Amino acid sequence: MEKLKMGIVGAGIWGETHAGIYNEHPFAEIVAVCDLNKAKAESLAAKFNVKEVYTDYKEMAKKANCDAIAIVTPDFLHADIAIACANAKKHMLIEKPLATSRKDTFDMLEAIEKNDVRVMVDLHNRWNPPVNTTKQAIDAGELGQAYSGYARLNDIKWVATDMLPWAAQSSILWFLGSHSLDTLRWFMGSEVERVYSVKREGILKNLGVDVPDMYLTTLEFKNGTIAQMENGWITPNANTNINDIKYTVLGTEGMINIDCSSHNMIQMVTDSKVTTPDIIVRNTVDGKVKGFAYESIRSFVDRMLDDKPFLVSLEDAANTSLALLAVLESAEKGMPVTVKY
Ligand SMILES: NC(=O)c1ccc[n+]([C@@H]2O[C@H](COP(=O)([O-])OP(=O)(O)OC[C@H]3O[C@@H](n4cnc5c(N)ncnc54)[C@H](O)[C@@H]3O)[C@@H](O)[C@H]2O)c1
Repeated sequence: MEKLKMGIVGAGIWGETHAGIYNEHPFAEIVAVCDLNKAKAESLAAKFNVKEVYTDYKEMAKKANCDAIAIVTPDFLHADIAIACANAKKHMLIEKPLATSRKDTFDMLEAIEKNDVRVMVDLHNRWNPPVNTTKQAIDAGELGQAYSGYARLNDIKWVATDMLPWAAQSSILWFLGSHSLDTLRWFMGSEVERVYSVKREGILKNLGVDVPDMYLTTLEFKNGTIAQMENGWITPNANTNINDIKYTVLGTEGMINIDCSSHNMIQMVTDSKVTTPDIIVRNTVDGKVKGFAYESIRSFVDRMLDDKPFLVSLEDAANTSLALLAVLESAEKGMPVTVKY
């Protein structure tokens, strides 16, 4: 079998994760790396023995001999790169969210459709075993009809204050709310019709990051189901893990509760701290990375090779971005907003 030749744009924290997975996959190889920061691109390329290094994504899209390109740049910098890659007839794995504006979303859809390339957005909660099991139970009718849902996906403050230099140009809604909203759409089997969101700010501003602390959002779906979504970037840093992930789905004949964070499967205690390693999200066995944050990336390669549909469609990703835009507008105006598709 031929190997899938990958290019990577964005040699940051998550770009390195992508590289590790392509490098480990028996039927993938990395042929080119691009970052505006040449030193970062060179360092990632050297780590994985990649020959071609670029600082201009347009040049890489045109020249690199790759089948697909992973776009792993900050949340608000996916659109122009994706359009250039589509015009160069490259398939793509785009990090979430697809886009952070309505114009970017539709410009990307147009370029992707015109060039007939395959695209997956890394909305990886669909690979999260408890989430995926819940979806299977809903589809099998085990809960009766879906009625309501709840999603909490929060991070400790450190992610906004230290990990992401660009946190203030994004928001917890794009960074994690994209996962929550996509998951709720998937559970409810419907598109979001109307949203009402309330935001609070101050804690992160006082820490020097000019971005809201938290959004609490009510979602009404077209099929009549309803959900609550909580996304915050202010969980105390001493929390036993980085993410706080919880879901509930209530159906007419049953209910499922998910707690991926306080899971009690493993607790590590040292003289200085207690942690609950996020082993569902990521773990390493015999030098190989496992966990749902990695399975989605591996799955992109697998689906490119067997030509089967991605678990997340482009429509899923686009509608998630459009609904999040309504959430942001609602939080800004302090009133319910109908989603424009
Ligand atoms: N799926 C997940 O679990 C997960 C986890 C973390 C981050 N992410 C996503 O991955 C993306 C990147 O996040 P990160 O934490 O790696 O950020 P990062 O800041 O560590 O890395 C981003 C890199 O992109 C580079 N870059 C910016 N503009 C560029 C351009 N025009 N051309 C080439 N390179 C450019 C920057 O120089 C930087 O090295 C974001 O969309 C984020 O939401 C996903």
